[in-house]
Amino acid sequence: MLQLSIIIPTYCEAENLTVLIPRVNHALTDAGLDAEIIVVDDDSPDGTIQVCKELAENFPLRLITRKKERGLSTAVIAGLDAATGDILLVMDADLSHPPEKIPELVSALNQPQTDFVIGSRYIEGGSTDQSWGWFRKWNSRVATWLSRPFTKASDPLAGFFALKRQSFLKSRQILNPVGYKIGLELIVKSRCQNVTEIPIDFADRVAGTSKLSFKEQLRYLKHLKRLFDFKFQNYAYFLQFALIGLTGVFVNLQMLALLSNWMISPIAVALAIWTSMSTNFLLNRNITFSYAKHAPILKQYLRYCGSCLTGAIFNWLTTMVLSRSFQFFEKRILLAAFIGILVGMGFNFLLCRYLVFSK
Ligand code: GDD
Repeated sequence: MLQLSIIIPTYCEAENLTVLIPRVNHALTDAGLDAEIIVVDDDSPDGTIQVCKELAENFPLRLITRKKERGLSTAVIAGLDAATGDILLVMDADLSHPPEKIPELVSALNQPQTDFVIGSRYIEGGSTDQSWGWFRKWNSRVATWLSRPFTKASDPLAGFFALKRQSFLKSRQILNPVGYKIGLELIVKSRCQNVTEIPIDFADRVAGTSKLSFKEQLRYLKHLKRLFDFKFQNYAYFLQFALIGLTGVFVNLQMLALLSNWMISPIAVALAIWTSMSTNFLLNRNITFSYAKHAPILKQYLRYCGSCLTGAIFNWLTTMVLSRSFQFFEKRILLAAFIGILVGMGFNFLLCRYLVFSK
């Protein structure tokens, strides 16, 4: 089997590739690495395809052209699928990742305990471009900090990384990234525990432009939520369900305050409950259980109302049983009610997770 496959996603990188590919090849030859280079291009209009065809005459380069799809992460996955090497390495085409570091990444991954290697800007010895302003630095740091629940690595959002084929195959069927952070997706989904970082000097691109738009950065938040749901499963769903429950309390009280000015109170109370139940339903459908948001809404809504009613009945029963049957709770009715709320919420959550918003 081939030792190494290098995957390079590209969109409009003709100018950079003519410099990058010879540099990569030089680094590979120097280190005696038996490798293939796979460029995955999304039908760039700038001549990238022609440049690759010419480069392929002199270098071990294969081009995959995607006509209908766009996106960095899915391009990388297409390259990983096509790769035949034992080690899979991903890097950008814009010369921000030094190809001379490839052998170091490969030998780090060859250590028996290591299952993921990052070319890192944020460990000692690594650096970012001097020209980065405070906003870019701060932006990158916050994004990195948000990945903390998933990995202790200093630079898990880097686009320069390597992993073993077997790690990729382990997670292939469950990869579901949005946006740019395919490295983080692979660390989490392949359950890579031992991540090694090699310091690199990250250089800003000279030719072409970055495609990392504000929209892509927002997609990162969506990606984080998906990873959160994947890694923490029911804990994650429950946390979101409970937080949305809290927003329901706010909606309920606001509605009640608004309506009680000009409505008799029993109707106002009922309307306030109905409003908060409905906003909770919409938020849970679109956020907590977003995997089920394409199911017919009316049927789901009716089931949700049924689930809330069941939760309320369990809440009421628990509170009554505790306060009537245990002396301890007789003088602590609020505590009994609080336990009732938790029990009711627990039942409501389970019904929502497995019945109302089932997969
Ligand atoms: N095939 C394909 N399709 N490739 C793409 C696409 C796309 O839609 N968008 C970007 N690329 C390629 C670029 O051509 C380049 O080779 C690489 O992906 C990185 O894209 P840039 O747009 O240059 O990203 P960046 O430099 O702003 O961000 C890089 O650095 C970040 C860390 O600062 C990426 O590596 C990020 O993943 C990384 O987090």
